Amino acid sequence: MATMDITKRAYGLAEAMLSEPLPRRWSHSLGVAERARSLRSILGEDADLMEAAAVLHDIGYSPRIAMTGFHPLDGARFLRDQEAVDERVVRLVAHHSCALLEAEERGLRDQLESEFELERPALVDALIFCDVTTTPDGEPTTSQARVAEIVARYGRDTLVGRFIQRAAPEMHAAVRRVEDRLNAARESSQPM
Ligand SMILES: [Fe+2]
Repeated sequence: MATMDITKRAYGLAEAMLSEPLPRRWSHSLGVAERARSLRSILGEDADLMEAAAVLHDIGYSPRIAMTGFHPLDGARFLRDQEAVDERVVRLVAHHSCALLEAEERGLRDQLESEFELERPALVDALIFCDVTTTPDGEPTTSQARVAEIVARYGRDTLVGRFIQRAAPEMHAAVRRVEDRLNAARESSQPM
């Protein structure tokens, strides 16, 4: 499939699955995709791939495909088995935003790990950056505020609350790595 079609198809698919049952989740997904577009200068030929993964990352919340209730796994299986989406997009969705840690809390780590490989670290970081610097409504935010919002929404001693507190250091570190790469790209594009 041509790379141009990857993003176009991804938007159509995500909208069809999320916009009506979960409008807020759809707004968030559009915001995350917008963040992905802001990373084009450091993504090179993977820019379209990242935008597709960004708009699709939460598709597993769609009630039509929520099987295990763990949305990275449900979403990735749907994209792989029903839609035959590019396997790198599928891997990014499967592992988005430290999914292995949440899978561990849910007793699903072996399934996630054995079915889906991790993409290369720079792309994993980029998707973390896009997701955790976007509010549930799709507006830009900081990873600190985003983590605090999730802890408040789910509760500190819930499964998701425990997961996000364990994942937070890695999420913040990934955001810093992406910001460093953005700054380096900006500096090198400046006239001497
Ligand atoms: Fe998610």
